[in-house]
Order: sequence, then C-alpha cells, then structure tokens
Amino acid sequence: MTPDEQKRAVGEAAAALVEDGMIVGLGTGSTAAHMVRALGVRAKAEGLRLRCVATSEATAALGLTAGLHIVDLEAAGEIDLTLDGADEIGPGLALIKGGGAALLREKLVWEASRRCVAIADASKLVEHLGRFPLPVEVVAFGHSTTAVRLAAAVRVSGIMAEPQLRTVLGEPAHTDGGNVIYDLACGVIPNPARLAAALKQVTGVVEHGLFLQLADSALVAEAAGVRRIQA
Ligand code: A5P
Repeated sequence: MTPDEQKRAVGEAAAALVEDGMIVGLGTGSTAAHMVRALGVRAKAEGLRLRCVATSEATAALGLTAGLHIVDLEAAGEIDLTLDGADEIGPGLALIKGGGAALLREKLVWEASRRCVAIADASKLVEHLGRFPLPVEVVAFGHSTTAVRLAAAVRVSGIMAEPQLRTVLGEPAHTDGGNVIYDLACGVIPNPARLAAALKQVTGVVEHGLFLQLADSALVAEAAGVRRIQA
C-alpha cells in the first residue's frame, strides 16, 4: 500500500467505529480527511444521525461538503468519540500533533471527548517522541519575545532547540485562532510530561502539541492491514 492508501484504509476503519446518534469529534490533516469523507458516505448510506465537531475551519468545510452535520463545541458539550491524526505516536500512546497548525482546537475537542482514537499510517510510530518538530501555538502579540522565553524554558527541560517561527510565503502562518506557531526540533524528548509542564509555564504560549494520556487507542495502517493499539 502507498502511504495515501494506508491513510485511506485507516480513515475508513476509524469511520466504522462511529455509531448512530453519536457526537463525533473530527480531526484535522490528510488522514482525518479520509475519515471525514468515509464517515459522510456511511452517514448517507445508513441514515446515521450524527452531530460532528470539527477541529479546524478546513475540517468543518470538508465535513459540510461530505454532508455531515457540523455543530460547534459550545453546542455539543461532551463528545462521544474523537477520531484524529497524529504526527508521532510514541510509547504509551503519547503523541505529537499540530503539524497542520490545528493543535489548540484539537486539544480542546480531545479533552471534551469520552474516547479519543489516534489514526495514522505506520510511519508515525516512534520509539521516542521528538523527531517531528514539536509545534507550539503562541499569541501573535510580541511573539518573538515569547520565543526567547520559550527557548529558555525548553533548555531548563534539558532540550536544546531553537524555536522556529512557521511561515507561509515568508509571512508568519496564522492558526484558526489568529495565533502563530513555533516549531521546536527537539530530537529526542526524554521526558514529555516534564517538557509539557515547562511549556505551560511560558506566558504567551497558548498550547503545545504534546498530547499525553489523551488517546484511548490508536488505529495504525501497516502493510498487513489496520492494527489497533490500546493505551
Ligand atoms: C493537525 O494540526 C495535526 O495534528 C494532524 O492531525 C497531524 O499533523 C497529522 O496529519 P496527517 O494525517 O496529514 O499526517
């Protein structure tokens, strides 16, 4: 299977977990997009009555195109099941997310969910988190001064990583919330919980892409098929 075929396979397997009447959290990214499209097909064919909360404006638009009923988190309250991609899946289903700059809304949706399933192709499985640069969402106002304190906080956690401002065509990339993203090339994150706590202390940091103890399980597409990993 090509990487995209793996993403489609896992997206379809994830959509199959949804039951009639559920409130469903819809993730962001190319793997989640396959799930959204597959869920739209299922909902139409089976007449499923679903309400869906999107983790980004892009996913909301895709969900509407797929015929899904999109509601906002405020209206939904507790979500039954969230299905979302990941940039890295490490030991204990610790994740790095935010490659698509949607980490804040993703984490809000995940934390409002009874059950969260990470969906990915096998290339996302790692022995240690940190090969994928860790995205950190920062308030746009004075963001470069926040980046200086961010670098210091990361150093205290034993990681030498210069925050890199994410740009598009030479301009800072903005999230759906109007914030900017700094990516931290950590290499290896020896203690993700310690780093997560340090990042939360930095004024101006809105959220980081470490998703720890949030995934209940993962569906991972491998050459032999889709494998379920339990937390
Ligand atoms: C979006 O901000 C991310 O958290 C995505 O879920 C993550 O980047 C995975 O994306 P792909 O499925 O496109 O690899």
